[in-house]
Amino acid sequence: MAVLPILTYPDPRLKQESEPVSEIDDALRAFVRDLEETMHAGPGGVGIAAPQVGRLLRVAIVDCSRSRKPVSNHGRMVLINPEITRWEGVAVGREGCLSVPDYTGNVIRAEAVRVEALNEHGEPVAYDCEGFEARAVQHELDHLDGLLFLDRLVSRRHDLFRRKVHKKPGER
Ligand code: NI
Repeated sequence: MAVLPILTYPDPRLKQESEPVSEIDDALRAFVRDLEETMHAGPGGVGIAAPQVGRLLRVAIVDCSRSRKPVSNHGRMVLINPEITRWEGVAVGREGCLSVPDYTGNVIRAEAVRVEALNEHGEPVAYDCEGFEARAVQHELDHLDGLLFLDRLVSRRHDLFRRKVHKKPGER
């Protein structure tokens, strides 16, 4: 396993659309393990997407079980070729991103979503997510379409915040 280097804004690879995964094999599973280790090594790592480490593949991981605040969650979700198939409600919330280490921002998202995907064994999975977990899923899936939370701000002037304190790696 390996912690992979994270691309940060404005790396142009973060703006690209990722390709669907065509084969779920041992090489992909090894990549998912590295991606997960990379997520856990980062500050506040509740999610990560393959393009953040320079692999333009439709793979994301969300795990809100270690979130600082207790939130409703499904634990570890490996999402390969994910699609959101249901949206409900609207909520504004603060987001951060491993690829935008110096800022957080207020972003409007659906309050609840259903995400359908394949897991790393090629099995279809579906999760009904709400609140913080739903936000994390929408944020990670945006990465697969080359979108950062910065692209979702209504106003950079009012909704973008510089982080006051840098958390050390591994701190949550
Ligand atoms: Ni992100």
